[in-house]
Amino acid sequence: MLPKINPEQTKAWGELYAHFEKNDFDLRTLFQYNPNRFDEFSIKRENFLFDYSKNLIDGRTKELLINLAEECQLKEAISAMFSGEKINETEGRAVLHTALRDFSDKEILVDGENIKPGIKKVLEQMRSFSEKVISGEHKGFSGKEITDVVNIGIGGSDLGPVMVVSALKHYKTRLNVHFVSNVDGNHIAEVLKNLNPETTLFIVASKTFTTQETMTNAHSAKDWFLKAGKQEDVAKHFVALSTNIEAVKTFGIAEENIFEFWDWVGGRYSLWSAIGLSIVLAVGYENFENLLKGAFDTDQHFQDADFAENIPVLMGLLGIWYRNFCGSPTYAILPYSQYLDRFAAYLQQGDMESNGKCVDRNGEFVQYETGPIIWGEPGTNGQHAFYQLIHQGTELIPADFIAYVKSCNQVSDHQEKLLANFFAQTEALAFGKTEDEAEAELKASGKSEEETERLLNFKVFHGNTPTNSFLFNELTPFSLGQLIALYEHKIFVQGVIWNIFSFDQFGVELGKVLAGKILPELVSDDKISTHDSSTNGLINYFKKHK
Ligand code: F6P
Repeated sequence: MLPKINPEQTKAWGELYAHFEKNDFDLRTLFQYNPNRFDEFSIKRENFLFDYSKNLIDGRTKELLINLAEECQLKEAISAMFSGEKINETEGRAVLHTALRDFSDKEILVDGENIKPGIKKVLEQMRSFSEKVISGEHKGFSGKEITDVVNIGIGGSDLGPVMVVSALKHYKTRLNVHFVSNVDGNHIAEVLKNLNPETTLFIVASKTFTTQETMTNAHSAKDWFLKAGKQEDVAKHFVALSTNIEAVKTFGIAEENIFEFWDWVGGRYSLWSAIGLSIVLAVGYENFENLLKGAFDTDQHFQDADFAENIPVLMGLLGIWYRNFCGSPTYAILPYSQYLDRFAAYLQQGDMESNGKCVDRNGEFVQYETGPIIWGEPGTNGQHAFYQLIHQGTELIPADFIAYVKSCNQVSDHQEKLLANFFAQTEALAFGKTEDEAEAELKASGKSEEETERLLNFKVFHGNTPTNSFLFNELTPFSLGQLIALYEHKIFVQGVIWNIFSFDQFGVELGKVLAGKILPELVSDDKISTHDSSTNGLINYFKKHK
């Protein structure tokens, strides 16, 4: 079980508070007085560099944050998760997405049973099925090879695979993989528009197999398919990924077409499980295995490295520093790689569904801030959209910059230009432009005294905006696995310290229940008056105009 320690009552929390009040944390000064700052606050692993020197911290901050982690028994919490204790207490489940990528020989027990053989069996099923589809051996009902795969799922049964398939586009097989998630019929309509039922394979991905959006899309996909194929052809064109075998069979998918996973795999942590089948079809089994190996590498680092050298621990602690001591409500994820175009969206679920909680592990309302708002877009596009606010707005917005040294596609000098922007932005955010510098610049550009004075404040950049930089050598399945797992563990670290349960998501339920009540009202002939006046007004407007 996880410890249940109120972080505010630790010694370190009070000390961090006093430390924050007492110091300026001015990055210009911190760099100026410590020529070794980069060496002290960066970690080099075999294939990547993590530079956290542009954070508003000094050695003492780091020491106190580590004390906080120790007082909150983070080490014990890490072992509890990896060893399969039921740390998802509110749902009575273990949290073992890490077991899905555990390449060691050690047994992992859940309720006294070793789960490793079951994991291996499903991986083998994924390998053999994907090889048949990719090679063309698995044929559609009319004898043609499968050309297109449609993953139907939402939330964790969509975002992880969407993100990885996009990130690993460079490693693509001959199959075109599409995703349908939204219950908005336009989503499935647009995807199916260009597809041929004879050559399309549907993957219905749902842990519970009850999710309204996924079930609705799955039924519509089946209806679309049955306009061309027959009921007995469904077996060649529909497979399911689920923990709910009975519900899958009721839907009409045969047992041999089910790829199982288990309740100890959280939805938002499930891309490593059977939910990754669309990834396997998109990039091949070997690449999927390398993705798992990359995540395993991070898992080992997370368990073994001292906190002072432990990247996900430091990521988590820095986030706590900004959220709870510096008052930052949001955290930006800024990948300088077009391939990571869905990375921020993926992390929004990972982080916000995990740590968007206001009740602690003792069942009491917390008196401190928890999960931040996660957002972001790839650079350099973001630079021409929202960076203005990061540079000159009124909020402190910490950000992670992620890039690759080598491009998968060496196109003239694009890579140098991309990286020049990455380095320039982190530099500008950290050091800004002082009043003196802005004044000198205005004068040098020929502005009069009067004009210089009038424009001066507009030209100042406050700087001191903290960033982490992740510089990987290459975007490979392995390095992507490492990266994703770093964030998974960052989220875990923060949940442990905030004393919240990171692996349930009761907050998504109320809306689902109310939508279930409203649905019949939308198709009835009656004027609706059972809700508040706003909801009644919206429903009745819809009914009148539909
Ligand atoms: O509504 C939230 C959620 O439960 C997520 O946690 C989950 O990833 C998603 O819905 C999809 O659930 P399922 O895989 O059961 O369809």
